Formats: sequence, C-alpha cells, structure tokens
Amino acid sequence: FVSIASHQLRSPLTSVRGYISMIIEGSYGEVNPKVKEVLTHVSDASRHMALSIEDYLNVSRIEAGNMKYEIADYDLKKLVKEVVVELVPVAEKKGIKLEFKPATEECVAVKLDIGKSRQIVQNLIDNALKYTKDTGTITVVVRKDIQAKKAYVDVIDQGIGISPEGLKTLFQKFERAKNANEINVTGTGLGLYIARTMANGMGGDITVASEGEGKGSTFTFVMPLNGIEAKWN
Ligand SMILES: Nc1ncnc2c1ncn2[C@@H]1O[C@H](COP(=O)(O)OP(=O)(O)OP(=O)(O)O)[C@@H](O)[C@H]1O
Ligand SMILES: [Mg+2]
Repeated sequence: FVSIASHQLRSPLTSVRGYISMIIEGSYGEVNPKVKEVLTHVSDASRHMALSIEDYLNVSRIEAGNMKYEIADYDLKKLVKEVVVELVPVAEKKGIKLEFKPATEECVAVKLDIGKSRQIVQNLIDNALKYTKDTGTITVVVRKDIQAKKAYVDVIDQGIGISPEGLKTLFQKFERAKNANEINVTGTGLGLYIARTMANGMGGDITVASEGEGKGSTFTFVMPLNGIEAKWN
C-alpha cells in the first residue's frame, strides 16, 4: 500500500514543484517580493515532502526485497567531492563550514551504485548539518587501506553528539535519539536505516562513533576496494 500511495503522490507533487519554481523564477510575470518569500517556503516544504515520499518508497522497496543496485566501477573520491561541492552553499547558509579533505592523492576505485552512494553521502552530510546547532565545521575525509582492501568516507561533525544509548538504536527504522528531539529538528528516523541497508546491499557498511552528547559525531561509510586500484593510478 505504502508503495502504491507513494508512487501516486510522486508525480502530482513533481508538477506542483515545477509550477512553484516557474512562478518564483518569473516565468508567469513579475512576482512581488512578499509573495516570492512565501512561495520560497512553499517550495522548501514541497521539497521536504518529496524527500519523505522517496524515503517511504525506499523503505517499501527494502521490505519487499525489491531494492535494485546498478553496480559500476567508480572513483569514490570523485563522487564524494561532487556531493560536498553541491552542499557547500547549504552549509554556508547555516553558518557551518563544510570541508573536503581527501587523505590520498590517488583515486579510490570501488564497485558501487552511483546514485545510491551519492544518496548515502548526502544523507550523512545532511544529518551532520541538521544536528549541528550553531556554527561549526564538518570535515569529509576519503581514505583507503590497501591492506584491508577498504575505502572509507568519514563525515566528522562538531554537533550535538550521541549518547551511548542513542548509538545502539540509531540505525533502526523510526528511531531518533532524545537530544535530536530536544533541539527541535524534525526527522522521521528513516535516513540512516535506508543508508545502511543500501551500503550493505553494495557490500559495504556505515559505522558511527561519538564520545557522547555535545561531543560531535563521526559517521563512516565503508566500502571494499575493487582491486583494480593499480590500473587506475
Ligand atoms: N550527525 C549526527 N549527530 C548527532 N545525532 C545524529 C547525527 N546523525 C544522526 N543522528 C541521530 O540518529 C537519529 C537517526 O538519524 P536518521 O538520519 O535515520 O533520522 P532523522 O535524521 O531523525 O530523520 P530523517 O529520516 O529525516 O533522516 C537522528 O534522529 C539523531 O538522533
Ligand atoms: Mg537524517
């Protein structure tokens, strides 16, 4: 049911979003600034709605065992850099510094689904932005361990941190830590569940470390190196 409902909501919402952005851009004539401001809120809300619908679709795909992966060889470092570049303006708006710090000069060749991997990295950075109250720095590191045959993407924040109890439940569906609710940021608690399931589906994982509330968090997306490193570098 969720899957059918989500599919049916998706296309009208896409057209609503299309019209709103055309009105904002002035395609139907000049828009006064007050109206434009209101429409910008409508546009943000509809974007949230679209993202939630995608999440519900993903959960129903997971539960039906229906998640499909299109696996290709790709440079994980390149992929992460692209996602970071897109999110820098979003971070700036919040007064947060988002920096990309690759720990290797070489490329990081991994077998992955490009769309899903982008979604995972986006998700981890979105959370880091969401759960940083004031100003701070988010550092995104890409590194590899040739011996262990693994690639790592660390998203390190200086945000609200996670208690030991929170660490135990945060990858479960609909689970949110107490301090996340306290700071009034909304969320459904689906992001990490979907992200970890996708990482597992590509042979990887997501791990988390935090020294406690108020002490920041580090989320790591781990993937196996594909073994063609030498050829690419
Ligand atoms: N960077 C972070 N710092 C502190 N807590 C975090 C961080 N990322 C996730 N969490 C905690 O893990 C919980 C689950 O995260 P998840 O992304 O699955 O859900 P969400 O952000 O609450 O909602 P959404 O489904 O919109 O992503 C969050 O509610 C929060 O308590
Ligand atoms: Mg989230």
